[in-house]
Order: sequence, then C-alpha cells, then structure tokens
Amino acid sequence: MTNNKPLVLMTHELPEDWVGELLDDYQVITGFNEKRGLDSRLIKHLDKAEGILCLLDDPIPAEALERAPDLKVISSMAVGVDNIDVAACTRLGIPVGHTPGVLTEGTADLTVALLLAVCRRLPTASEDARQGRWKNWDPTGWLGMDLNNSTVGIVGLGKIGTAVGERLASFGAQIIFNNRSPQPEKEKKLNATQVELDELLRTSDFICLHAPLTEETANLINEQAFQKMKSSAILINAARGAIVDTQALTRALKEGWIWAAGLDVTDPEPLPPNHPLYKLDNCLITPHIGSATFQIRQTMANIAIENLSAGIKGIRLPYCANPEIYT
Ligand code: GLV
Repeated sequence: MTNNKPLVLMTHELPEDWVGELLDDYQVITGFNEKRGLDSRLIKHLDKAEGILCLLDDPIPAEALERAPDLKVISSMAVGVDNIDVAACTRLGIPVGHTPGVLTEGTADLTVALLLAVCRRLPTASEDARQGRWKNWDPTGWLGMDLNNSTVGIVGLGKIGTAVGERLASFGAQIIFNNRSPQPEKEKKLNATQVELDELLRTSDFICLHAPLTEETANLINEQAFQKMKSSAILINAARGAIVDTQALTRALKEGWIWAAGLDVTDPEPLPPNHPLYKLDNCLITPHIGSATFQIRQTMANIAIENLSAGIKGIRLPYCANPEIYT
C-alpha cells in the first residue's frame, strides 16, 4: 500500500454530508454494506489497520484483534458495545469508543411511542380502519390498557431508563425499578422505588428493559420470569434482544401469560420475516430504530469519528467504554 495515511476499516458506508472532511486524514477501506462484521473486503487489511469504525451489529471478536498488531482504537457508532470483545480490547490496551448521551432522549421517545402504540393497540386499530373493519363506534372495540395510575417497572435505571421514567411519570404512572446499584437521586427525582427483580416482574403493568447486555442480563427475561408477570402485563424491550428469551416470549404471548409486547430489538436481529412473533397481533416489532432520527444519527457518526481520531492520535477518547485502560 503506497498511502502513508493511517488505515481505517469502516464496516459500513456513512453519508458524505455526515462525514464531510472528518476522515480525510485517513486511508479508509469500507466493507460491504449488506454484510456485518469484518467482511472479506476488510479482513485482509487487518494486519495494517490502525482504527476500526463499526456499527452495533458488527461482531468484533478477540481473534480479529490478534490479527491487528497496529490497531489503536475501535470506535462504534452506538452506545451499547456488546458486539465487541471489550475485555480483550482492555487486555490489549485498545480503547473502545462509543456514543452515549446523544441518543438518550430519542431512544426514550421511541420507547414511549412503542409502549403507547402497544397499550392502545394502534397497529391493529389502524389496519382495521384501512381494511374496512371500522363499521361504527364500537363500545368494546380496540380496547387497550391505561398508563395513568399504572405501575411501570424499569429494569436498568441508567440514562435511557431514567429518561423513560421521567416521561412515563408525567403520564401518571408510578415508577418502580431494578438496578445493580442504588440510585437515591434518581429515585427521588422520579418519586420511584427500587425493588428486587422478582417484585418488579410480579407487580408491574408495564415492564421496560433498559439494561445493557452482559453475562448477567442475557436471558434475564426467560420462561420463569414470564410466569411471574401479570397476565395483563406489557413488555417493552428497546435495549438488547438477547436480554429476552425469544422462544419463551413467543409462548408467553401466544398462551396469554402476558398481554402484549413491543420490541425495538430482537434475538436474533434482524428477526427473520417468517418468525412466529410477526404473526401475533399482540406483538409490535420495529427494526432497532431507537436512535433513528436525522439529528441523532449524524451526531453519533460525528462522535464515532471523533473517538476514532483521538485513538489514532493516541489521546484519550472523548467517550470511552473501557476507561480503565487509562489507569
Ligand atoms: C443502540 O441500540 C445503541 O446501542 O446505540
């Protein structure tokens, strides 16, 4: 390779007007948009790569890092970094960049949109109107669930969980939450109560998942968890699909263990078009669009490039998911 600029492997193209001149200092090789991870176009350049710019569904395993002796940074255009072997990066002293904060409010908005759409059955009602099934004002037609005076259980009271709590409290819901550590300030702000997961599952009308995907949270919402929930409960997942056992969820929805679910994330992702969950009218699925606004996605791209540049220059990343490498 004749170019002396640091080599960056980018797993997916980004719009020209988002990137501008930000990547001009680098030699950038872009992967196939339709393939995830370090595809055949990228993998052969790993030995010379100084930076990787990836998305949340690009697996970056330890084996890839071992093939990249010059790698100085991995920067993901996402807040969650469960697709990257962060422990291996930390061991090798490679900083992992991510984009927290910028997508908090947008993801909270999407969560509330999903919750309202599910509890008031908007997709079914809209489709029925379109298909001519709206004959007259039906006293028992399209009945849903009240948010006012309900109990909302938030699993994971981080930035997004808190923003969701604020929104739902203003709808008249009582907030309870489960979190690894106590959150006295947020508890006060939301007039919320911290409870054990078991109590949250048993007493919530709405259960909103906002925890990161870790060994502790993988499959947290499994068959036993669904059996504890109220039959009128609504599950909302806008965090990571693998926090929920998909088979157990399908059974819970089919057999009426819970009333409905709204999912912005699934396991697997994407959920194949023939998956039984799509056939259930008590399940609303959106394609991982929590941060999908023009403004947020452009800001995420800019932050991801900022992290990438800092890493290549050897300075501290503005937003680092493994800051322990600096101590
Ligand atoms: C979205 O899920 C993100 O992690 O950015």
